[in-house]
Amino acid sequence: MTDLATVAAEASTCTACKLASTRTQVVFGVGDPAADLMFVGEGPGEQEDVRGEPFVGRAGGLLTQLIEGIGLTRSDVYIANVVKCRPPGNRDPQPDEIAACSPWLDRQLEIVRPKVIVTLGNFATKLLLDTKDGITKLRGQVFPYERAGVVARLIPTLHPSAVLRGGGQRLAETRADFVVVKRRLMSGDDR
Ligand code: URA
Ligand code: SF4
Repeated sequence: MTDLATVAAEASTCTACKLASTRTQVVFGVGDPAADLMFVGEGPGEQEDVRGEPFVGRAGGLLTQLIEGIGLTRSDVYIANVVKCRPPGNRDPQPDEIAACSPWLDRQLEIVRPKVIVTLGNFATKLLLDTKDGITKLRGQVFPYERAGVVARLIPTLHPSAVLRGGGQRLAETRADFVVVKRRLMSGDDR
């Protein structure tokens, strides 16, 4: 079986979309390649583009706190994004960029085979749940995920950047979503 490091090495030279021309480096993913819990964000920001690791800026600090709030650390989980290269000026990733990049995410999911996938915000949720419903409606609910032999539960939650903008109520909602995640991880119901 191909391992994540091999796929990351392949991705590091990807030019499948126009984000290749403005990135500093491809930000593939980080964490435990056999994690039960995998997070999917939107795309690298400025700090991530410089450091080559997802969620290391301000939103990343909050994500790390939320992970630690359910008794885990960043190295217990796997963290990736919908697009692996930074959209210039942190603009939204465009549909053609998401389509070009999604095979990398599919390969990450196929290798990690998480038990629980947490989608952070609208872009990851819309891509992996194949829905048009918004995140405020879907957050905190548990959905079945089944694709390419990967069977998991998918739990959407707000993007940490939206939580930072949204203040106390958003933070409380997100903490509650993480409790749902923890419960699902600990449940005997395997998939
Ligand atoms: N926001 C994201 O969606 N992903 C990152 O890696 C950092 C910030
Ligand atoms: Fe390739 Fe994805 Fe980067 Fe586009 S965003 S160049 S598809 S790795």
